[in-house]
Amino acid sequence: MKYIIANWKSNKTLEEALEWVEVVGPKLEKQEKVEAIVCPPSLYLADVRKKVEVTGGLLKVGSQNISPFPAGSYTGEETAEMVKQFGDYSIIGHSERRKNFGETDEVLAEKVRQAGSVELKPIFCVQDEHTPIPAGVTVVAYEPVFAIGTGTADTPQNADEVCKKVTESHEGVSVLYGGSVTSENAKAFLEQDHISGLLIGKAALDGEEFIKIVQIALSL
Ligand code: PGA
Repeated sequence: MKYIIANWKSNKTLEEALEWVEVVGPKLEKQEKVEAIVCPPSLYLADVRKKVEVTGGLLKVGSQNISPFPAGSYTGEETAEMVKQFGDYSIIGHSERRKNFGETDEVLAEKVRQAGSVELKPIFCVQDEHTPIPAGVTVVAYEPVFAIGTGTADTPQNADEVCKKVTESHEGVSVLYGGSVTSENAKAFLEQDHISGLLIGKAALDGEEFIKIVQIALSL
């Protein structure tokens, strides 16, 4: 199973979000080879989920973040349980959250714990093979900071090497690559032995480009 994940970050109006699902949803075929996941801003999760249901229901939905706390007095936060109503996944530990919102390894371990309590699957981001990975994580994304949003991806060989090390030290984990992935370079990453999918930012804002990458994954 390969994971192809769209991380929209803080982008799109609601109208643009729904248009994207209209482009992508009907083009997905029922198959067991590729899990296509979209991670919109949490504000759009409910509407995106509804739109997915009317466009074939094959696209999976995830959030880009969850609260490290359970329900309660935590102004501005969305709990894992809230997200679980609309999606199956949550990105946890993206380097933009670590850098801009001060998220530490301890906070991220709490988020993973919260996700686990409602069976929301974490897509846990690591910067290299040394980033601590909390117990219970089964999907990891290797995202080197130099490659995120820069247009300069890691080499498929180096990415494979890091993904291999993570796989070897965490049994049963699927490791994805993320950082300046496009439909041009996707194949080279997906062909590597230890890369089990892609986490895509900028290129995945375009539904046609996302579908192209899903089709590349299906063709291998
Ligand atoms: P990018 O972002 O594809 O725009 O480099 C990847 C990510 O941050 O997940």
